[in-house]
Amino acid sequence: MKGAIFLEILIGILACLCVFWVNAEDPYRSYTWTVTYGTISPFGVPQQGILINGQFPGPAIEAVTNDNIIVNLINKLDEPFLITWNGVKQRRTTWQDGVLGTNCPIPPNSNWTYKFQMKDQIGTFNYFPSTKVHRAFGGFGAVNVAQRSVISVPYHIPDGEFTLLVSDWFKNFSSHKALQKRLEDGYSLPVPDALLINGHHNSLSFTGQKGKTYKFRVSNVGIATSINFRIQGHTLTLVEVEGAHCLQESYESIDIHVGQSVAVVVAMHGPPKDYYIVASTRFTKPILTTTAILHYDGSNTPPSLPLPIAPTYHIHWSMKQARTIRTNLTANAARPNPQGSFHYGTIKVVRTIVLANSATKINNKLRYAVNGISYVNPITPLKLADWFNIPGVFDLNTIKDTPTPGAPAKLGASVIPTTLHDYVEIVFQNNETSVQSWHLDGSSFYVVGYGSGTWTADIRKRYNLNDAITRHTVQVYPQSWSAIYVSLDNKGVWNLRSAIWERRYLGQELYLRVSNDERSLFTETDVPPNALFCGKAKRPQ
Ligand SMILES: *[C@@H]1O[C@H](CO)[C@@H](O)[C@H](O)[C@H]1NC(C)=O
Ligand SMILES: *[C@@H]1O[C@H](CO)[C@@H](O)[C@H](O)[C@H]1NC(C)=O
Ligand SMILES: *[C@@H]1O[C@H](CO)[C@@H](O)[C@H](O)[C@H]1NC(C)=O
Ligand SMILES: *[C@@H]1O[C@H](CO)[C@@H](O)[C@H](O)[C@H]1NC(C)=O
Repeated sequence: MKGAIFLEILIGILACLCVFWVNAEDPYRSYTWTVTYGTISPFGVPQQGILINGQFPGPAIEAVTNDNIIVNLINKLDEPFLITWNGVKQRRTTWQDGVLGTNCPIPPNSNWTYKFQMKDQIGTFNYFPSTKVHRAFGGFGAVNVAQRSVISVPYHIPDGEFTLLVSDWFKNFSSHKALQKRLEDGYSLPVPDALLINGHHNSLSFTGQKGKTYKFRVSNVGIATSINFRIQGHTLTLVEVEGAHCLQESYESIDIHVGQSVAVVVAMHGPPKDYYIVASTRFTKPILTTTAILHYDGSNTPPSLPLPIAPTYHIHWSMKQARTIRTNLTANAARPNPQGSFHYGTIKVVRTIVLANSATKINNKLRYAVNGISYVNPITPLKLADWFNIPGVFDLNTIKDTPTPGAPAKLGASVIPTTLHDYVEIVFQNNETSVQSWHLDGSSFYVVGYGSGTWTADIRKRYNLNDAITRHTVQVYPQSWSAIYVSLDNKGVWNLRSAIWERRYLGQELYLRVSNDERSLFTETDVPPNALFCGKAKRPQ
Protein backbone atom coordinates (compact mmCIF):
# COMPACT_ATOMS: atom_id res chain seq x y z
CA MET A 1 0.00 0.00 0.00
CA LYS A 2 2.62 2.47 1.12
CA GLY A 3 4.76 1.44 -1.81
CA ALA A 4 1.96 2.14 -4.28
CA ILE A 5 1.35 5.62 -2.86
CA PHE A 6 5.05 6.32 -2.99
CA LEU A 7 5.09 5.18 -6.59
CA GLU A 8 2.11 7.37 -7.41
CA ILE A 9 3.78 10.38 -5.86
CA LEU A 10 6.98 9.58 -7.67
CA ILE A 11 5.16 9.29 -10.98
CA GLY A 12 3.40 12.54 -10.16
CA ILE A 13 6.69 14.28 -9.52
CA LEU A 14 8.19 12.82 -12.68
CA ALA A 15 5.16 13.93 -14.68
CA CYS A 16 5.50 17.44 -13.27
CA LEU A 17 9.19 17.50 -14.02
CA CYS A 18 8.44 16.21 -17.47
CA VAL A 19 5.87 18.94 -18.16
CA PHE A 20 8.28 21.48 -16.72
CA TRP A 21 11.05 20.17 -18.93
CA VAL A 22 8.97 20.31 -22.09
CA ASN A 23 7.77 23.81 -21.31
CA ALA A 24 11.22 24.97 -20.42
CA GLU A 25 12.69 23.70 -23.62
CA ASP A 26 12.20 25.68 -26.78
CA PRO A 27 10.24 24.03 -29.60
CA TYR A 28 11.91 21.90 -32.23
CA ARG A 29 11.33 22.09 -35.97
CA SER A 30 12.72 19.25 -38.03
CA TYR A 31 13.24 19.11 -41.74
CA THR A 32 14.57 16.48 -44.13
CA TRP A 33 15.90 18.05 -47.27
CA THR A 34 17.08 16.13 -50.30
CA VAL A 35 19.32 18.09 -52.64
CA THR A 36 19.23 17.01 -56.29
CA TYR A 37 19.85 18.34 -59.75
CA GLY A 38 16.69 18.97 -61.70
CA THR A 39 15.65 20.68 -64.87
CA ILE A 40 14.28 24.18 -64.47
CA SER A 41 13.37 26.60 -67.24
CA PRO A 42 12.84 30.11 -65.92
CA PHE A 43 13.15 31.34 -69.51
CA GLY A 44 11.67 28.40 -71.39
CA VAL A 45 15.08 26.92 -72.04
CA PRO A 46 15.97 23.93 -69.86
CA GLN A 47 18.87 24.48 -67.45
CA GLN A 48 20.23 22.34 -64.63
CA GLY A 49 18.98 23.72 -61.33
CA ILE A 50 19.82 22.71 -57.78
CA LEU A 51 16.61 21.66 -56.05
CA ILE A 52 15.72 20.97 -52.44
CA ASN A 53 12.90 18.45 -52.15
CA GLY A 54 12.26 19.11 -55.82
CA GLN A 55 11.82 22.85 -55.30
CA PHE A 56 13.52 25.93 -56.72
CA PRO A 57 13.91 28.01 -54.59
CA GLY A 58 14.13 25.61 -51.67
CA PRO A 59 11.51 25.35 -48.91
CA ALA A 60 11.21 28.22 -46.43
CA ILE A 61 11.97 27.80 -42.76
CA GLU A 62 9.21 29.57 -40.82
CA ALA A 63 10.38 29.72 -37.23
CA VAL A 64 9.81 31.61 -33.99
CA THR A 65 12.56 33.18 -31.86
CA ASN A 66 14.52 30.53 -29.90
CA ASP A 67 13.19 27.60 -31.95
CA ASN A 68 15.58 24.71 -32.34
CA ILE A 69 16.05 23.83 -35.98
CA ILE A 70 17.09 20.40 -37.18
CA VAL A 71 17.83 19.97 -40.87
CA ASN A 72 18.89 16.58 -42.17
CA LEU A 73 20.47 17.38 -45.51
CA ILE A 74 20.76 14.52 -47.97
CA ASN A 75 23.23 15.29 -50.73
CA LYS A 76 22.28 13.64 -54.02
CA LEU A 77 24.55 15.85 -56.14
CA ASP A 78 27.76 14.52 -57.64
CA GLU A 79 29.78 17.06 -55.65
CA PRO A 80 30.37 17.79 -51.95
CA PHE A 81 27.84 20.26 -50.62
CA LEU A 82 27.11 22.55 -47.66
CA ILE A 83 24.41 25.06 -46.83
CA THR A 84 25.09 28.15 -44.75
CA TRP A 85 22.46 30.09 -42.81
CA ASN A 86 22.82 33.72 -43.77
CA GLY A 87 22.31 35.84 -40.67
CA VAL A 88 21.56 33.00 -38.24
CA LYS A 89 24.05 33.79 -35.50
CA GLN A 90 24.84 30.21 -34.44
CA ARG A 91 25.60 31.32 -30.90
CA ARG A 92 28.44 29.28 -29.39
CA THR A 93 28.39 26.87 -32.27
CA THR A 94 30.42 27.61 -35.41
CA TRP A 95 30.12 23.88 -35.97
CA GLN A 96 26.76 24.48 -37.67
CA ASP A 97 27.80 27.40 -39.85
CA GLY A 98 28.15 25.33 -43.00
CA VAL A 99 31.20 26.90 -44.64
CA LEU A 100 34.41 25.10 -45.56
CA GLY A 101 36.34 26.85 -42.79
CA THR A 102 34.12 25.25 -40.16
CA ASN A 103 32.68 22.10 -41.70
CA CYS A 104 33.84 19.24 -43.88
CA PRO A 105 31.55 19.20 -46.89
CA ILE A 106 28.81 16.57 -47.07
CA PRO A 107 30.02 14.00 -49.61
CA PRO A 108 27.75 12.92 -52.48
CA ASN A 109 25.17 10.27 -51.56
CA SER A 110 25.39 10.94 -47.86
CA ASN A 111 23.66 13.13 -45.33
CA TRP A 112 24.45 15.39 -42.45
CA THR A 113 22.19 16.87 -39.82
CA TYR A 114 22.46 20.52 -38.81
CA LYS A 115 21.19 21.49 -35.35
CA PHE A 116 20.99 25.10 -34.33
CA GLN A 117 18.85 27.55 -32.43
CA MET A 118 17.34 30.87 -33.50
CA LYS A 119 18.53 32.18 -30.16
CA ASP A 120 17.26 35.71 -29.49
CA GLN A 121 16.72 36.30 -33.19
CA ILE A 122 13.78 37.82 -35.00
CA GLY A 123 13.53 38.83 -38.63
CA THR A 124 14.28 38.07 -42.24
CA PHE A 125 17.15 35.78 -43.19
CA ASN A 126 17.93 33.12 -45.78
CA TYR A 127 20.06 30.12 -46.55
CA PHE A 128 22.14 29.11 -49.56
CA PRO A 129 24.87 26.69 -50.62
CA SER A 130 28.32 27.90 -49.57
CA THR A 131 30.17 25.39 -51.73
CA LYS A 132 31.48 26.07 -55.26
CA VAL A 133 29.04 28.27 -57.18
CA HIS A 134 26.04 26.07 -56.43
CA ARG A 135 23.93 28.95 -55.23
CA ALA A 136 23.89 30.55 -58.68
CA PHE A 137 21.61 27.71 -59.77
CA GLY A 138 19.50 27.22 -56.65
CA GLY A 139 19.70 25.59 -53.24
CA PHE A 140 18.66 28.82 -51.53
CA GLY A 141 15.55 29.65 -49.55
CA ALA A 142 14.00 31.88 -46.90
CA VAL A 143 14.51 31.76 -43.14
CA ASN A 144 11.79 33.84 -41.47
CA VAL A 145 11.82 34.20 -37.72
CA ALA A 146 8.68 35.58 -36.07
CA GLN A 147 8.57 37.10 -32.60
CA ARG A 148 7.45 35.04 -29.60
CA SER A 149 3.90 35.80 -28.46
CA VAL A 150 5.19 37.58 -25.33
CA ILE A 151 7.24 40.04 -27.40
CA SER A 152 5.73 43.08 -29.07
CA VAL A 153 7.10 44.45 -32.31
CA PRO A 154 7.23 48.22 -32.91
CA TYR A 155 4.64 48.22 -35.71
CA HIS A 156 1.07 47.03 -36.20
CA ILE A 157 1.12 43.34 -36.97
CA PRO A 158 0.37 43.21 -40.69
CA ASP A 159 -2.63 41.25 -41.97
CA GLY A 160 -0.38 38.97 -43.97
CA GLU A 161 3.14 38.56 -45.24
CA PHE A 162 4.96 37.63 -48.42
CA THR A 163 8.53 36.46 -48.89
CA LEU A 164 10.39 37.55 -52.03
CA LEU A 165 13.79 36.10 -52.88
CA VAL A 166 15.33 38.13 -55.67
CA SER A 167 18.14 36.41 -57.54
CA ASP A 168 20.11 37.07 -60.66
CA TRP A 169 20.22 34.55 -63.47
CA PHE A 170 22.52 33.48 -66.28
CA LYS A 171 20.68 32.22 -69.36
CA ASN A 172 23.89 31.38 -71.21
CA PHE A 173 25.22 28.84 -68.75
CA SER A 174 23.61 25.41 -68.68
CA SER A 175 24.56 24.69 -65.08
CA HIS A 176 26.68 25.87 -62.17
CA LYS A 177 29.54 23.81 -63.57
CA ALA A 178 29.67 25.88 -66.74
CA LEU A 179 29.77 29.03 -64.65
CA GLN A 180 32.44 27.55 -62.43
CA LYS A 181 34.56 26.53 -65.40
CA ARG A 182 34.68 30.09 -66.59
CA LEU A 183 35.93 31.22 -63.19
CA GLU A 184 38.43 28.35 -62.96
CA ASP A 185 39.71 29.32 -66.39
CA GLY A 186 40.56 32.71 -64.97
CA TYR A 187 37.80 34.87 -66.38
CA SER A 188 35.26 37.15 -64.83
CA LEU A 189 31.54 36.39 -65.18
CA PRO A 190 29.45 38.52 -67.53
CA VAL A 191 26.68 40.73 -66.13
CA PRO A 192 23.77 38.36 -65.43
CA ASP A 193 21.02 38.17 -68.04
CA ALA A 194 17.99 38.57 -65.82
CA LEU A 195 16.52 38.82 -62.36
CA LEU A 196 14.08 36.34 -60.85
CA ILE A 197 11.61 36.65 -57.98
CA ASN A 198 11.16 33.32 -56.18
CA GLY A 199 12.56 31.60 -59.26
CA HIS A 200 10.15 33.28 -61.70
CA HIS A 201 10.51 36.04 -64.23
CA ASN A 202 7.56 38.43 -64.68
CA SER A 203 4.97 35.85 -63.74
CA LEU A 204 4.19 35.81 -60.01
CA SER A 205 1.23 37.45 -58.35
CA PHE A 206 0.73 38.32 -54.67
CA THR A 207 -2.86 38.86 -53.60
CA GLY A 208 -3.95 41.16 -50.79
CA GLN A 209 -7.14 42.86 -49.70
CA LYS A 210 -7.89 46.53 -49.98
CA GLY A 211 -7.49 48.36 -46.67
CA LYS A 212 -5.15 45.75 -45.21
CA THR A 213 -1.42 45.86 -44.61
CA TYR A 214 1.18 43.33 -45.66
CA LYS A 215 4.77 42.68 -44.75
CA PHE A 216 7.08 42.00 -47.68
CA ARG A 217 10.26 40.23 -46.66
CA VAL A 218 12.72 40.88 -49.47
CA SER A 219 16.17 39.33 -49.77
CA ASN A 220 18.79 39.77 -52.45
CA VAL A 221 19.94 36.16 -52.83
CA GLY A 222 21.68 36.93 -56.12
CA ILE A 223 25.37 36.39 -56.70
CA ALA A 224 26.36 39.59 -58.45
CA THR A 225 24.19 42.70 -58.56
CA SER A 226 22.68 45.18 -56.14
CA ILE A 227 18.96 45.67 -56.68
CA ASN A 228 16.36 48.36 -56.19
CA PHE A 229 12.92 47.24 -54.99
CA ARG A 230 9.64 49.15 -55.34
CA ILE A 231 5.88 48.73 -55.69
CA GLN A 232 3.92 50.89 -58.10
CA GLY A 233 1.60 53.36 -56.34
CA HIS A 234 2.61 52.24 -52.84
CA THR A 235 5.13 53.43 -50.30
CA LEU A 236 7.34 51.02 -48.44
CA THR A 237 7.63 51.43 -44.69
CA LEU A 238 10.89 49.85 -43.63
CA VAL A 239 10.42 47.96 -40.35
CA GLU A 240 13.28 45.49 -40.11
CA VAL A 241 16.74 45.02 -41.58
CA GLU A 242 18.45 41.65 -41.10
CA GLY A 243 17.03 41.15 -37.64
CA ALA A 244 17.07 44.74 -36.35
CA HIS A 245 13.99 46.92 -35.92
CA CYS A 246 14.81 50.14 -37.68
CA LEU A 247 13.27 53.61 -37.67
CA GLN A 248 10.13 53.29 -39.71
CA GLU A 249 10.93 55.60 -42.60
CA SER A 250 8.88 55.57 -45.80
CA TYR A 251 10.58 54.96 -49.12
CA GLU A 252 9.46 55.03 -52.74
CA SER A 253 12.10 52.44 -53.46
CA ILE A 254 14.90 50.80 -51.57
CA ASP A 255 18.33 49.46 -52.51
CA ILE A 256 19.16 45.94 -51.37
CA HIS A 257 22.72 44.79 -51.97
CA VAL A 258 23.88 41.23 -52.53
CA GLY A 259 23.27 39.15 -49.41
CA GLN A 260 21.06 41.71 -47.66
CA SER A 261 17.46 41.44 -46.45
CA VAL A 262 14.77 43.93 -45.46
CA ALA A 263 11.15 43.79 -44.34
CA VAL A 264 8.78 46.54 -45.46
CA VAL A 265 5.14 47.07 -44.58
CA VAL A 266 2.79 48.11 -47.38
CA ALA A 267 -0.74 49.47 -46.88
CA MET A 268 -3.11 48.51 -49.68
CA HIS A 269 -4.83 51.85 -49.92
CA GLY A 270 -4.84 52.32 -53.71
CA PRO A 271 -7.75 52.07 -56.13
CA PRO A 272 -8.41 48.32 -56.48
CA LYS A 273 -6.46 47.10 -59.49
CA ASP A 274 -3.17 45.36 -60.10
CA TYR A 275 0.18 47.04 -59.52
CA TYR A 276 3.70 46.19 -60.55
CA ILE A 277 6.18 44.98 -57.98
CA VAL A 278 9.59 45.74 -59.48
CA ALA A 279 13.16 44.66 -58.83
CA SER A 280 15.86 46.13 -61.05
CA THR A 281 19.62 46.05 -60.96
CA ARG A 282 21.73 48.97 -59.75
CA PHE A 283 25.07 50.11 -61.19
CA THR A 284 24.92 47.71 -64.18
CA LYS A 285 24.85 48.20 -67.92
CA PRO A 286 22.35 47.14 -69.09
CA ILE A 287 19.84 47.48 -66.27
CA LEU A 288 17.91 44.28 -65.68
CA THR A 289 14.32 44.42 -64.52
CA THR A 290 11.85 41.82 -63.30
CA THR A 291 8.31 42.27 -62.12
CA ALA A 292 5.60 40.54 -60.14
CA ILE A 293 2.04 41.69 -59.52
CA LEU A 294 0.43 43.07 -56.40
CA HIS A 295 -3.16 41.99 -56.98
CA TYR A 296 -6.08 43.60 -55.12
CA ASP A 297 -8.43 40.73 -54.37
CA GLY A 298 -11.47 40.93 -56.62
CA SER A 299 -10.00 43.40 -59.11
CA ASN A 300 -10.01 42.69 -62.84
CA THR A 301 -7.87 45.62 -63.92
CA PRO A 302 -4.42 44.63 -65.11
CA PRO A 303 -1.44 46.74 -64.08
CA SER A 304 -0.54 49.67 -66.26
CA LEU A 305 2.78 50.82 -67.63
CA PRO A 306 5.06 52.64 -67.18
CA LEU A 307 6.90 50.89 -64.39
CA PRO A 308 7.77 53.15 -61.46
CA ILE A 309 11.17 54.68 -62.06
CA ALA A 310 14.20 54.15 -59.89
CA PRO A 311 17.73 55.40 -59.61
CA THR A 312 20.13 53.64 -61.95
CA TYR A 313 23.78 54.59 -61.52
CA HIS A 314 23.32 57.17 -58.79
CA ILE A 315 25.76 56.09 -56.13
CA HIS A 316 25.30 59.15 -53.98
CA TRP A 317 21.54 58.51 -53.82
CA SER A 318 22.20 55.03 -52.50
CA MET A 319 24.74 56.19 -49.93
CA LYS A 320 22.34 58.85 -48.69
CA GLN A 321 19.55 56.34 -48.40
CA ALA A 322 21.82 53.92 -46.54
CA ARG A 323 22.51 56.59 -43.92
CA THR A 324 18.76 56.94 -43.23
CA ILE A 325 18.50 53.27 -42.21
CA ARG A 326 18.91 53.55 -38.46
CA THR A 327 17.97 51.73 -35.28
CA ASN A 328 14.76 52.53 -33.42
CA LEU A 329 16.34 53.08 -30.02
CA THR A 330 13.07 52.64 -28.15
CA ALA A 331 11.93 49.46 -29.89
CA ASN A 332 12.15 45.91 -28.64
CA ALA A 333 14.49 43.35 -30.04
CA ALA A 334 13.86 39.62 -29.77
CA ARG A 335 14.21 40.01 -26.02
CA PRO A 336 12.21 42.67 -24.19
CA ASN A 337 15.13 45.02 -23.61
CA PRO A 338 15.54 48.08 -25.78
CA GLN A 339 18.10 47.54 -28.53
CA GLY A 340 19.55 50.96 -27.80
CA SER A 341 20.46 50.14 -24.22
CA PHE A 342 23.79 48.87 -25.54
CA HIS A 343 25.71 52.11 -25.99
CA TYR A 344 27.89 50.90 -28.80
CA GLY A 345 29.20 54.38 -29.51
CA THR A 346 30.86 54.81 -26.13
CA ILE A 347 32.64 51.48 -25.87
CA LYS A 348 36.40 51.57 -26.33
CA VAL A 349 37.55 50.07 -29.61
CA VAL A 350 40.50 47.77 -28.90
CA ARG A 351 41.54 47.22 -32.46
CA THR A 352 41.12 48.65 -35.96
CA ILE A 353 41.31 46.38 -38.97
CA VAL A 354 41.38 47.89 -42.46
CA LEU A 355 40.51 45.43 -45.21
CA ALA A 356 41.15 46.41 -48.81
CA ASN A 357 39.81 44.33 -51.71
CA SER A 358 41.65 44.05 -54.99
CA ALA A 359 41.44 42.23 -58.29
CA THR A 360 44.69 40.62 -59.32
CA LYS A 361 46.27 37.90 -61.42
CA ILE A 362 47.99 34.92 -59.87
CA ASN A 363 49.49 32.31 -62.21
CA ASN A 364 47.96 34.35 -65.00
CA LYS A 365 44.43 33.83 -63.73
CA LEU A 366 41.95 36.25 -62.23
CA ARG A 367 41.90 36.22 -58.43
CA TYR A 368 40.54 38.56 -55.77
CA ALA A 369 42.45 39.41 -52.63
CA VAL A 370 42.00 41.05 -49.24
CA ASN A 371 45.06 42.92 -47.96
CA GLY A 372 47.07 41.10 -50.59
CA ILE A 373 45.96 37.57 -49.68
CA SER A 374 43.71 35.59 -52.00
CA TYR A 375 42.00 33.00 -49.82
CA VAL A 376 42.26 29.30 -50.64
CA ASN A 377 40.39 26.73 -48.52
CA PRO A 378 42.72 24.25 -46.82
CA ILE A 379 41.32 20.70 -47.10
CA THR A 380 41.14 20.59 -43.31
CA PRO A 381 38.51 23.00 -41.95
CA LEU A 382 40.15 25.76 -39.90
CA LYS A 383 37.81 25.13 -37.00
CA LEU A 384 38.74 21.45 -36.72
CA ALA A 385 42.43 22.30 -36.99
CA ASP A 386 42.05 24.90 -34.26
CA TRP A 387 40.06 22.62 -31.93
CA PHE A 388 42.33 19.62 -32.28
CA ASN A 389 45.57 21.66 -32.52
CA ILE A 390 46.44 20.26 -35.92
CA PRO A 391 49.53 22.10 -37.17
CA GLY A 392 50.21 23.23 -40.71
CA VAL A 393 46.63 24.15 -41.70
CA PHE A 394 46.70 27.90 -41.13
CA ASP A 395 49.07 30.54 -39.88
CA LEU A 396 47.80 33.46 -37.82
CA ASN A 397 50.33 35.77 -39.46
CA THR A 398 49.13 35.27 -43.02
CA ILE A 399 47.07 38.45 -43.19
CA LYS A 400 47.90 41.85 -41.72
CA ASP A 401 45.48 44.26 -40.03
CA THR A 402 46.11 46.92 -42.66
CA PRO A 403 46.80 46.70 -46.40
CA THR A 404 50.20 47.29 -47.96
CA PRO A 405 49.35 49.20 -51.16
CA GLY A 406 51.23 47.95 -54.17
CA ALA A 407 52.45 44.65 -52.68
CA PRO A 408 51.80 41.71 -55.03
CA ALA A 409 48.95 39.42 -53.99
CA LYS A 410 49.52 35.81 -53.03
CA LEU A 411 47.43 32.77 -52.13
CA GLY A 412 46.85 31.90 -48.48
CA ALA A 413 44.42 30.90 -45.74
CA SER A 414 43.78 34.16 -43.90
CA VAL A 415 42.74 33.91 -40.26
CA ILE A 416 42.70 36.99 -38.04
CA PRO A 417 43.13 36.08 -34.37
CA THR A 418 40.90 37.98 -31.93
CA THR A 419 39.99 37.55 -28.28
CA LEU A 420 36.48 36.79 -27.08
CA HIS A 421 34.64 40.08 -26.33
CA ASP A 422 37.08 42.21 -28.30
CA TYR A 423 35.33 45.34 -29.54
CA VAL A 424 36.68 45.88 -33.02
CA GLU A 425 36.42 48.51 -35.75
CA ILE A 426 36.61 47.12 -39.27
CA VAL A 427 37.01 49.44 -42.23
CA PHE A 428 36.31 48.07 -45.69
CA GLN A 429 38.33 50.08 -48.20
CA ASN A 430 37.18 49.62 -51.78
CA ASN A 431 39.57 51.17 -54.28
CA GLU A 432 37.90 49.31 -57.14
CA THR A 433 35.17 50.67 -59.40
CA SER A 434 32.49 48.10 -58.53
CA VAL A 435 30.23 48.00 -55.47
CA GLN A 436 31.25 45.46 -52.82
CA SER A 437 29.16 43.56 -50.32
CA TRP A 438 30.75 42.13 -47.17
CA HIS A 439 29.13 39.58 -44.89
CA LEU A 440 30.15 38.36 -41.42
CA ASP A 441 28.93 35.07 -39.96
CA GLY A 442 28.25 34.67 -36.25
CA SER A 443 27.57 38.30 -35.25
CA SER A 444 25.75 41.37 -36.39
CA PHE A 445 27.70 44.62 -36.54
CA TYR A 446 26.97 48.33 -36.28
CA VAL A 447 27.40 50.15 -39.58
CA VAL A 448 28.87 53.41 -38.29
CA GLY A 449 29.77 55.10 -41.56
CA TYR A 450 29.91 55.15 -45.34
CA GLY A 451 32.05 57.56 -47.29
CA SER A 452 33.79 58.08 -50.59
CA GLY A 453 37.53 58.07 -51.19
CA THR A 454 40.10 56.77 -48.77
CA TRP A 455 39.28 56.21 -45.11
CA THR A 456 41.44 58.08 -42.61
CA ALA A 457 41.32 58.09 -38.82
CA ASP A 458 39.91 61.63 -38.62
CA ILE A 459 36.80 60.49 -40.53
CA ARG A 460 35.70 58.88 -37.24
CA LYS A 461 34.37 62.30 -36.24
CA ARG A 462 31.60 61.71 -38.79
CA TYR A 463 30.61 58.24 -37.57
CA ASN A 464 27.05 57.62 -36.41
CA LEU A 465 27.70 56.65 -32.79
CA ASN A 466 24.10 56.98 -31.70
CA ASP A 467 21.62 54.97 -33.73
CA ALA A 468 23.49 53.03 -36.40
CA ILE A 469 21.71 49.91 -37.63
CA THR A 470 23.02 46.45 -36.85
CA ARG A 471 23.14 44.04 -39.75
CA HIS A 472 25.19 41.14 -41.11
CA THR A 473 25.98 42.40 -44.61
CA VAL A 474 27.27 45.83 -45.61
CA GLN A 475 27.78 47.36 -49.03
CA VAL A 476 30.89 49.35 -49.92
CA TYR A 477 30.40 51.79 -52.76
CA PRO A 478 32.91 52.10 -55.62
CA GLN A 479 36.08 53.94 -54.59
CA SER A 480 34.63 54.31 -51.11
CA TRP A 481 34.79 52.86 -47.62
CA SER A 482 32.32 51.52 -45.08
CA ALA A 483 33.10 51.19 -41.37
CA ILE A 484 31.61 48.83 -38.80
CA TYR A 485 31.93 48.20 -35.07
CA VAL A 486 31.54 44.65 -33.89
CA SER A 487 31.53 43.11 -30.44
CA LEU A 488 33.09 39.69 -30.90
CA ASP A 489 31.02 37.86 -28.30
CA ASN A 490 30.61 34.60 -30.18
CA LYS A 491 33.48 32.16 -29.86
CA GLY A 492 34.42 30.31 -33.02
CA VAL A 493 35.98 30.71 -36.41
CA TRP A 494 33.76 33.00 -38.46
CA ASN A 495 33.68 33.64 -42.17
CA LEU A 496 34.06 37.25 -43.33
CA ARG A 497 33.38 37.13 -47.04
CA SER A 498 32.39 38.96 -50.14
CA ALA A 499 28.73 38.16 -50.76
CA ILE A 500 29.45 38.67 -54.45
CA TRP A 501 30.11 35.09 -55.36
CA GLU A 502 32.68 35.40 -58.13
CA ARG A 503 34.84 37.39 -55.72
CA ARG A 504 34.35 34.99 -52.86
CA TYR A 505 35.00 31.96 -55.04
CA LEU A 506 38.24 33.50 -56.27
CA GLY A 507 39.59 34.50 -52.88
CA GLN A 508 37.86 37.57 -51.39
CA GLU A 509 37.21 36.13 -47.95
CA LEU A 510 38.91 35.39 -44.66
CA TYR A 511 38.09 34.13 -41.18
CA LEU A 512 37.99 35.78 -37.77
CA ARG A 513 39.07 33.45 -35.00
CA VAL A 514 37.33 34.51 -31.79
CA SER A 515 38.80 32.65 -28.85
CA ASN A 516 40.14 32.72 -25.32
CA ASP A 517 42.37 30.40 -23.33
CA GLU A 518 39.60 28.62 -21.54
CA ARG A 519 37.53 25.82 -23.06
CA SER A 520 34.04 26.04 -21.54
CA LEU A 521 30.59 24.85 -22.56
CA PHE A 522 29.27 28.22 -21.42
CA THR A 523 31.11 29.93 -24.24
CA GLU A 524 31.30 27.23 -26.89
CA THR A 525 29.72 23.85 -27.46
CA ASP A 526 31.79 20.73 -28.01
CA VAL A 527 32.35 19.14 -31.42
CA PRO A 528 28.94 17.74 -32.37
CA PRO A 529 28.77 13.92 -32.16
CA ASN A 530 27.91 13.68 -35.87
CA ALA A 531 30.77 15.96 -37.02
CA LEU A 532 32.32 14.99 -40.32
CA PHE A 533 36.09 14.67 -40.51
CA CYS A 534 38.31 15.33 -43.49
CA GLY A 535 41.83 16.39 -44.44
CA LYS A 536 44.18 16.06 -41.47
CA ALA A 537 41.29 15.91 -39.00
CA LYS A 538 40.53 12.41 -37.77
CA ARG A 539 37.64 11.39 -35.54
CA PRO A 540 39.06 11.16 -32.00
CA GLN A 541 39.14 7.57 -30.69
C1 LIG B 1 21.63 10.69 -41.76
O1 LIG B 1 20.23 10.44 -41.70
C2 LIG B 1 19.84 9.44 -40.75
C3 LIG B 1 18.34 9.26 -40.79
O2 LIG B 1 17.84 9.35 -42.06
C4 LIG B 1 20.23 9.89 -39.36
O3 LIG B 1 19.93 8.87 -38.43
C5 LIG B 1 21.73 10.18 -39.31
O4 LIG B 1 22.04 10.72 -38.04
C6 LIG B 1 22.10 11.20 -40.39
N1 LIG B 1 23.56 11.36 -40.40
C7 LIG B 1 24.18 12.46 -39.97
C8 LIG B 1 25.67 12.41 -40.03
O5 LIG B 1 23.62 13.44 -39.55
C1 LIG C 1 10.04 53.10 -32.49
O1 LIG C 1 9.57 52.12 -31.61
C2 LIG C 1 8.51 52.55 -30.79
C3 LIG C 1 8.27 51.50 -29.70
O2 LIG C 1 7.75 50.33 -30.19
C4 LIG C 1 7.30 52.83 -31.67
O3 LIG C 1 6.19 53.21 -30.89
C5 LIG C 1 7.66 53.93 -32.64
O4 LIG C 1 6.61 54.13 -33.56
C6 LIG C 1 8.93 53.58 -33.42
N1 LIG C 1 9.34 54.77 -34.13
C7 LIG C 1 9.79 54.78 -35.39
C8 LIG C 1 10.05 56.09 -36.01
O5 LIG C 1 10.01 53.77 -35.99
C1 LIG D 1 24.62 34.91 -74.46
O1 LIG D 1 24.74 34.24 -75.71
C2 LIG D 1 24.28 35.03 -76.79
C3 LIG D 1 24.30 34.15 -78.05
O2 LIG D 1 25.41 33.33 -78.06
C4 LIG D 1 25.19 36.25 -76.93
O3 LIG D 1 24.74 37.07 -77.98
C5 LIG D 1 25.10 37.03 -75.62
O4 LIG D 1 25.99 38.13 -75.65
C6 LIG D 1 25.45 36.16 -74.45
N1 LIG D 1 25.20 36.90 -73.23
C7 LIG D 1 26.08 36.95 -72.27
C8 LIG D 1 25.65 37.73 -71.09
O5 LIG D 1 27.16 36.40 -72.31
C1 LIG E 1 43.46 53.44 -52.37
O1 LIG E 1 43.62 54.57 -53.20
C2 LIG E 1 44.23 55.68 -52.56
C3 LIG E 1 44.19 56.84 -53.51
O2 LIG E 1 44.73 56.48 -54.76
C4 LIG E 1 45.63 55.32 -52.09
O3 LIG E 1 46.21 56.40 -51.38
C5 LIG E 1 45.55 54.11 -51.17
O4 LIG E 1 46.84 53.70 -50.81
C6 LIG E 1 44.82 52.97 -51.86
N1 LIG E 1 44.65 51.90 -50.90
C7 LIG E 1 44.97 50.65 -51.18
C8 LIG E 1 44.77 49.67 -50.10
O5 LIG E 1 45.37 50.30 -52.27
